[in-house]
Amino acid sequence: MSDVLLLNGPNLGILGRREPEIYGTDTLDDIERAVGEEVAAQGWGVIAEQHDCEGALIRTIQNSYGTVGAIVNPGALMIAGWSLRDALADYPRPFVEVHLSNVWARESFRHDSVIAPLASGVIVGLGALGYRLAARALTSTVR
Ligand code: DQA
Repeated sequence: MSDVLLLNGPNLGILGRREPEIYGTDTLDDIERAVGEEVAAQGWGVIAEQHDCEGALIRTIQNSYGTVGAIVNPGALMIAGWSLRDALADYPRPFVEVHLSNVWARESFRHDSVIAPLASGVIVGLGALGYRLAARALTSTVR
């Protein structure tokens, strides 16, 4: 069995109650289940991790080189998470960056991602559906 790494950064553990008008009402459990459904046909499982600390996210990446690929929502670490960026630079598999909200329709400090140049693709603004689409992208591109 191969696994996809589903990695969520700071403040994403409280999805469902966190600013639902921006991030929707799905919880992280709902999202983890949805990703699991998407990759099941491929015979893949999901390793789901959420951390509020950058170091814990980095350690997870360093311990996940055996995964088939990753779906990463770095939260606000997209803006200046250089250590997270460097960890992903050494991650040997493709990953898709996801943001629930349309970051470009929001405050200007959210308009840049230090992670995006390393990603296979970026999905923003489609809410929890973005994670399903990222999972589909991995199932159809990863060999
Ligand atoms: C987010 C967007 C970020 O700007 C914000 O800091 C988050 C969530 C999103 O999924 O829309 O924590 O990554």
